[in-house]
Amino acid sequence: MGIKVSEFGKTSKGKIAHIYTLVNGKGMALEVTDYGATMVSILAPDAKGRSKDVLLGYDDVQDYEQGTCYFGAIIGRNGNRTKDAQVVIDGHVYQMEKNEGENNLHSGSEGYSNIIWDASVDEDGNSVSFHHVGADGEQGLPGTFDITVTYTLTMENEVKIHYEGTSDKDTIANMTNHGYYNLAGHAAGKIEDHILWLDADAFTPVGQGMIPTGEILPVEGTPMDFRAAKSIGADIEADYEQLKIAGGYDHNYVLNNSNGTLRKIAEVTEPESGRRMEVFSDAVGVQFYAGNFVESIPKGKEGVVYQKRSGLCLETQGFPDATHHETFPSTVLRAGAKYETTTIYYFSAVK
Ligand code: BGC
Repeated sequence: MGIKVSEFGKTSKGKIAHIYTLVNGKGMALEVTDYGATMVSILAPDAKGRSKDVLLGYDDVQDYEQGTCYFGAIIGRNGNRTKDAQVVIDGHVYQMEKNEGENNLHSGSEGYSNIIWDASVDEDGNSVSFHHVGADGEQGLPGTFDITVTYTLTMENEVKIHYEGTSDKDTIANMTNHGYYNLAGHAAGKIEDHILWLDADAFTPVGQGMIPTGEILPVEGTPMDFRAAKSIGADIEADYEQLKIAGGYDHNYVLNNSNGTLRKIAEVTEPESGRRMEVFSDAVGVQFYAGNFVESIPKGKEGVVYQKRSGLCLETQGFPDATHHETFPSTVLRAGAKYETTTIYYFSAVK
C-alpha cells in the first residue's frame, strides 16, 4: 500500500487539482481527485487476474468541469432531483438553483461535484479524506455544513466510501457517489449484458420532470424487478410507462432491510470477464441509472467516446425529493446531529 500524489491539471479558475493513487497489491488501484472528491479510475482484476479500469471518466480536470454526467463525483448536500428547486424544513422554504428546467439536480453549480476539496492521506496509506466546510447559505441551504468524505481501498478489494458531517443549523444532507461502472472496462461499450440483482421490493415512480410522484410501488410483476438477477437489457425496452418516461432504468429503489446498518443491497456481474461488483450500504435507497442520457460524450478517458448506456450507476442515497413527500424517510439533518453513511463496492471475479 502507498499513496502517490500527482497533478491533474488546472481548473478554469486556475486552481491545481491533484490525483491520489491508492494501490493494494491485490490487483486493484483507485484514483481519486480533490476536484469534486471524484473517483477517476478503479482498476479491478478479472478471474485470470487481468485488471481493467471499470469506471467512466475523463483524463483532465477541465473535462470534469465541463461535463454534465457527474462521472465518479461526490454529490451533495442534496442529491437527485428536487421539485421547483425548493426544500422545506419545518415549514420554511429554501430556494436552491434551478439547474434542470424547474428542478434542482444534484445541488446545482455550487454542488460538491464542482468544488476543490481539502485532501489528507492517512498514515497507513490506504485512505484519502476530503474535507469541506460549506458556508451557511451555500447552495441556498441553511447551516454551516462541515463534511468529510473518506475513500479507502482495502486489502479485500473493497472501495469504501464513508461520509461524516455536522451542521450548526437544521439542513438537508443526502449525499452519494456518482460512479459509472462498466465491468468489462470503461471503453467496452454498453452495459446491457451486465447481470444485476437488487434487494428492493419497491421503487418510487416518477412523473413530470422525473420528480417522484410520492408513491411507493412494488416491483412485483413489472420490468423493474431485479430481485431475481437478470441482465439489465432483458426488459429495459419493455412497454412500461416508467421506462418510457426515463428512457430506461433511472429510478430510486426502496432497499429492503433498512435499519441503518450495512447490508448487501446489489450485485452486478459482467459475464465475459466474470468481474463482479457487490454493493453494501446503510442507505435507504439506491438510484439505479442505466446511463440512458450518456450520449456521445467526446474525450472520455484514453479518447474513448462514451455512448448511451456505456456505464451504470448505483447511487446509494435517501429518497429523491424527500422534502415534498411525508411518506419518504426524512433527509433533514438536525443542528448538532451527525450525518454518517457508508457504501462499499466490493470487487471480485467469477468463472
Ligand atoms: C440521474 C439521471 C441523470 C444523471 C446525470 C442521475 O443521478 O438519475 O437522470 O441524468 O444523474 O445527471
